[in-house]
Amino acid sequence: MDKSKNNSNSADTLKAYERIYAESEQAYSSQPFFLVKKIHKYLQTGLVVDFGAGEGRNSVFLAEQSFLVEAIDFAAGAVKKLEEKIKKKSLNIRTKRADLSRLNLAGKFHVGVCTFVLHNLSATAAKKFILKMQKHTEIGGVNVLACFTKQGYFFRKDPKTGNFFPSQTELKKLYTGWKIHEINTKKIRLRPIDAAGKPLFGDCVVMLAQKL
Ligand SMILES: C[S@@+](CC[C@H](N)C(=O)[O-])C[C@H]1O[C@@H](n2cnc3c(N)ncnc32)[C@H](O)[C@@H]1O
Repeated sequence: MDKSKNNSNSADTLKAYERIYAESEQAYSSQPFFLVKKIHKYLQTGLVVDFGAGEGRNSVFLAEQSFLVEAIDFAAGAVKKLEEKIKKKSLNIRTKRADLSRLNLAGKFHVGVCTFVLHNLSATAAKKFILKMQKHTEIGGVNVLACFTKQGYFFRKDPKTGNFFPSQTELKKLYTGWKIHEINTKKIRLRPIDAAGKPLFGDCVVMLAQKL
């Protein structure tokens, strides 16, 4: 793979997210992702890493559930917004700015969360990242993922993209050997709107899996 092309893609993506976070007080939903709300069925405490945490809706919810949380995102605007929430609510969340496509992880965690992030990475980088997240998850720990599929705006606007838009089958295969408690495909409303101001939608595959 052409590494310089990959780096410039990542720089463009980062620029686009910085713009989104600078333009809006709350760019995305502040409600936790529905599968994040189900983690307590399998684990009640431990260390969470929220990858591509954004404004921290999942991190904040899990910290309030008494998990220790590390929130990672490459956008300074996202981290700043989350840090304001942490300060205001005195939450146990450590923030870190890093790019998931070249992330060094040390030690293990109990919960890995990555929602609506991996379509920004090349398929190769995303799969590498997932393997890393799996490797650093404790036995009995869980991963929660939400990934856009090829059915929807983000893929349609650039069908030649080599980015990660997995099907349910593909994601299941990546989690061979794990106990998949929930996997589903859902249609969700996206942030961008069309030229007529109408909402755009995309399918995403959502999954909660536990390491055996
Ligand atoms: C659509 S937002 C989702 C945020 C959050 N996970 C949620 O569900 O609300 C995508 C986030 O992923 C971050 N992101 C995208 N690519 C990334 C990368 N390569 N490394 C780190 N963060 C990344 C963006 O900065 C953005 O905050």
